[in-house]
Amino acid sequence: MKKEQQTPRKYTLVALPGEGIGPEVVEACLRILQALAEVEGFQLQVKHGWIGEPAKARFGIALPLETLLMCEESDAILFGAVTQGGLLELRRYFELFINLRPVRPSPHLLTSSPIKPDRLQGVDLLFVRELASGIYFGTSGRDCDHGFHTMHYTDREIRRIARVALSYARDRRQHLTIAHKENALPHIPWTRLVQGEAQNFPEVRIEPMLVDNLAMQLVMRPREFDVILAGNLFGDILSDLGGAIAGSIGLLGSASLNRSGFGMYEAIHGTAPDIAGKGIANPLGTLAGVMLMLAEWGETEAVQSLSTIQDRLLSQGYRTADLYHGEESSQILVTTDELVALFVREIQNTKVS
Ligand code: IPM
Ligand code: MN
Repeated sequence: MKKEQQTPRKYTLVALPGEGIGPEVVEACLRILQALAEVEGFQLQVKHGWIGEPAKARFGIALPLETLLMCEESDAILFGAVTQGGLLELRRYFELFINLRPVRPSPHLLTSSPIKPDRLQGVDLLFVRELASGIYFGTSGRDCDHGFHTMHYTDREIRRIARVALSYARDRRQHLTIAHKENALPHIPWTRLVQGEAQNFPEVRIEPMLVDNLAMQLVMRPREFDVILAGNLFGDILSDLGGAIAGSIGLLGSASLNRSGFGMYEAIHGTAPDIAGKGIANPLGTLAGVMLMLAEWGETEAVQSLSTIQDRLLSQGYRTADLYHGEESSQILVTTDELVALFVREIQNTKVS
């Protein structure tokens, strides 16, 4: 929630590390955040809660009441990763229907993407994904030899996320692409409903696009898109494509917000069991989530500082394993801890200078 500027500014944050690399990237970001808080003059109180497998082991369920109560009393949630359990329930409980997933390839990482660098220059995308409805939450079941999940959207649910996407588009480059599949799923008329809301945003150019075609166009000409609005499932799939555009899924962060601005912040990657426990996970995805959180709090200087430092470290060649190409001699392979230490040093240097 946006806070009134008070001195000293104080925030309470619930960390939900979860599973796999979740705890590693969350702890990494908390260390960076604490160093930043000291320099930027805000206070951060962090509590740890349980979700996913660790919660099941301790409380018998993936999202215990203790965790929900803790979150209710906080200004935000910093989330790690889970394989599944608890996350959808958390999104639903807090009605986090707005999911923002920005994708802006760093100029220092253009060769990390399989897409040609000249197509990536200047790419600046914002996926707005509906997060609290759709096929993730429709009627579902399994019986003997068949199962089903239902894609269900009320017009109201589509309209409210449409207004969010439209207002972001208005404040950016006035272009909104709607991901839909109305040739096969005509009863969920995204295009018509979004166009209805767009009457109040005359400056925004609306471009409905079949989601399969959109997936291809995003690879071929990513620069020509601005805000992309998608339902829950399509938004999930398309935003991973954003990982390929940025160079690694490990770089992307997301904010999941409800109508009052309360939110959960996280990387868009999952638990990455193949690298969990090795200390090599990329914390920059979660840090991107942290930057979205700080921006929501109005801590714009802190965001600017983090993004400048990240830019500098990438330009100096520091890379976690997911981004490291041994053949490029200018690159320096770093562990999660080493990258955190570099951030902390840079943050503290800004204090001195
Ligand atoms: C994401 C994840 C989740 C989703 C999974 C873990 C249920 O892939 O946040 O993108 O599909 O929403
Ligand atoms: Mn996903």
